[in-house]
Amino acid sequence: MLKSEAVSAEKFKGIRDAIRNKYAGVSVSAAGKFQYPTGKEGATALGYDPAVIKSAAPGLLESFCGIGNPFSLGRIQNGDVVLDLGCGAGFDLFVASRLVGETGRVCGVDLTEDMAARAKKNLAGANISNVEVRKVDSEIIPCEDNTFDIVISNGVINLSPGKNTCFREIYRVLKPGGRLQFADVVLENALPAHLSGSIEAWSQ
Ligand SMILES: C[S@@+](CC[C@H](N)C(=O)[O-])C[C@H]1O[C@@H](n2cnc3c(N)ncnc32)[C@H](O)[C@@H]1O
Repeated sequence: MLKSEAVSAEKFKGIRDAIRNKYAGVSVSAAGKFQYPTGKEGATALGYDPAVIKSAAPGLLESFCGIGNPFSLGRIQNGDVVLDLGCGAGFDLFVASRLVGETGRVCGVDLTEDMAARAKKNLAGANISNVEVRKVDSEIIPCEDNTFDIVISNGVINLSPGKNTCFREIYRVLKPGGRLQFADVVLENALPAHLSGSIEAWSQ
């Protein structure tokens, strides 16, 4: 390993540890942990279908901290196979599971053990059987090439310290002609000095 690669590996580990730390707390509840509306209020503000919000058990919405609505970017249909990158506690998985129906399939992956566990519990409680959730350790997606019709992601790629790998992996697991529909955070201006380089600020 080159010295520069060793420095990056160490830095990436620090960033991922900070993300896991923050989102372990969010897996209990997102309330008061972000500077934007979360939970049911957030989903409503982002234009999610009110009927779907109403049908979601409170546990599915409690930890929802999406920053956009990936479903507004293109239609997901019956029979589609969908990946949710950074699925959190499972609200977007719940929405996708209803759209793909019994003939489709949804897979969620998340870096944070507690989030993946909460998503599994939430979905089991909602009696959903066309969704599987896996915990991942990095940007590597544990799925075969050409698996998915659509990859969705909601406030996750901005957290990744390895964005090139992230996009390469998404491209690899998408079927030819498949789509990426994602909501993300972008910087419009340079960060102030006290935040630039701060590992904690990365996951805010
Ligand atoms: C802003 S939350 C969004 C969660 C969910 N999409 C939602 O809308 O509630 C970010 C989630 O992405 C996960 N995450 C961060 N980096 C990740 C990565 N490289 N791969 C998979 N999950 C990741 C975090 O653990 C957290 O659960």
